[in-house]
Amino acid sequence: MSAIDPLRQQVAQWRQQGERIALVPTMGNLHAGHLALVEQARQLAPKVIASLFVNPTQFGPHEDFSAYPRTLAADQAKLATAGCDLLFAPSLTSVYPQGAEHTTRVEVPGLSDILCGACRPGHFAGVAQVVCKLFNMVQPDIAVFGEKDRQQLLVIQRMVADLNMPITVVGSPTVREADGLAMSSRNAYLDTEQRRLAPQLYHTLCTVKAKLISGEPDYPAMEHTAVQQLAAMGFRPDYVRIVRAQDYADPTPSDTALVIVAAAWLGRARLIDNIAITMPLRG
Ligand code: PAJ
Repeated sequence: MSAIDPLRQQVAQWRQQGERIALVPTMGNLHAGHLALVEQARQLAPKVIASLFVNPTQFGPHEDFSAYPRTLAADQAKLATAGCDLLFAPSLTSVYPQGAEHTTRVEVPGLSDILCGACRPGHFAGVAQVVCKLFNMVQPDIAVFGEKDRQQLLVIQRMVADLNMPITVVGSPTVREADGLAMSSRNAYLDTEQRRLAPQLYHTLCTVKAKLISGEPDYPAMEHTAVQQLAAMGFRPDYVRIVRAQDYADPTPSDTALVIVAAAWLGRARLIDNIAITMPLRG
């Protein structure tokens, strides 16, 4: 389905029947990570809608909007097998009839400006804009997002709280390849040698986690070492940081819920990953 009116009619009919509706927003080129979100959505609501839209406003001018893999027929088949009830794949002109540049923006301050937001200016404003529009088009009760893009998940949760949207936003665990690499549509950009190296991003985060759990106190030193190690292996790291889980601020000594976050380029793929940890209480 690609038009908004029939989508609304279908959603209204389900709602009349008393069904709750869960939405899984995607940009397509679906892999097992996306399908796990559909599976989680199925646990949470009897009707599941997946949206598929490669959103131009979240790509920078020199990013991979044109190259982004578009595989609608294969995606449709995967969603049908996964038990998705409706695929909503709107056109560019139905999402941005005035043109993307002339469309109302949604800014989530603070969280959008750090880490991936600092590396990709305007990215999270584009994400918040399109997700806000998708929420208004579909009007789901629940929306499921991957923890792989944890900063995005936080931005959406903040937007929903700040704008009083009656939607429960749920995070779903990262799905990984057997060697630890987080699944991503952008992994297709890796050549054979880069693909061999790529899981080291996750393994570097695991090393930082082990040091944190063992009580190492110097967070900036651990971050610096991890960046150096990635660079020595052939990555071009954007950052490795240890942050507070709830708002991605610098942790204070009393914070126990932390996340180790990283972004690094490998060839023309920008890989991101994170691990959440609960620090042991010290006494
Ligand atoms: P996309 O990259 O297609 O991802 C769609 C959803 O799948 C996101 O919630 C993302 O976190 C989740 N996801 C991707 N890889 C995953 C993995 N390995 N394990 C678990 N979940 C994974 O994220 C976007 O699209 C867009 O920014 C979007 C939210 C659709 C707005 O345009």
